[in-house]
Amino acid sequence: MDQRPIGVFDSGLGGLTAVAELTRLLPGEDIIYFGDTGRVPYGGRSRETLLKYARQDVAFLRTFDLKAIVIACGTVSTTAMEELAAESPIPIVGVVEPAARQAAQCTKNGKIGLIGTQASIRSRAYERCIARINPEVQVLAQACPLLVPLVENGRIHPGDVVVETVCAEYLQPLREAGVDTLVLGCTHYPLLASVIGRFMGPEVALVSAGAEGARAAAGLLRTSGALAGDRTAGHCRYFVSDSVSGFSQLASLFLQRDVSAAVTQIDISLY
Ligand code: DGL
Repeated sequence: MDQRPIGVFDSGLGGLTAVAELTRLLPGEDIIYFGDTGRVPYGGRSRETLLKYARQDVAFLRTFDLKAIVIACGTVSTTAMEELAAESPIPIVGVVEPAARQAAQCTKNGKIGLIGTQASIRSRAYERCIARINPEVQVLAQACPLLVPLVENGRIHPGDVVVETVCAEYLQPLREAGVDTLVLGCTHYPLLASVIGRFMGPEVALVSAGAEGARAAAGLLRTSGALAGDRTAGHCRYFVSDSVSGFSQLASLFLQRDVSAAVTQIDISLY
């Protein structure tokens, strides 16, 4: 049994898709979340900048006595996973391997669509991982740089003409190619799941990278005997690098509970 909290981070709100799944699977766990809202979006940044930001995010989280860290950011997972894991004395779980496994399991026709940030798509991390799992599977990748800013601005609702138009433009080639599985490789994208799902159609399975990362972390903690025990309600604390108000509002909407009292602003440049 290990009652230390789990650390989770992302460039902004997207990692809450992992938090929601972690809390559903392991309601007794304490969670420390960091969203780098002052520097979001990460997806267009260089590898060097991403590595620097990711190291600072981890350094801030490590000011708490954590038992594990979930990189609930597709961009950091695809770009800096190896370095972060090698540097960390506690287990670090990313989203690529778990989401790739789930997608390879879901596909029936061997055509997997992948959407993510520019950095994630550029890395080709999913292609490498899926080829290791099943070399027969084809991956059709599409960078979607406008989606993270839309989500961070709360533009997530079906019927919103801007978000519907942008999604249609990005997804059209994947729909035409006949993918039967679509990896939402950026953890922000499940907030757009209804828009994306409606466009792709009910026969296309959506794989949430954030939720798969959370499941992998839960599995790891369970098998290593590091769960918190039978407490019923763990505490979540949220830290952001810009003002708390925008984050609190959208996080409360997404998590369907008022989290505003648990959100604190920090200065990430100090780490
Ligand atoms: N949630 C991050 C991801 O999974 C968003 C990256 C960004 O800030 O552009 O890639």
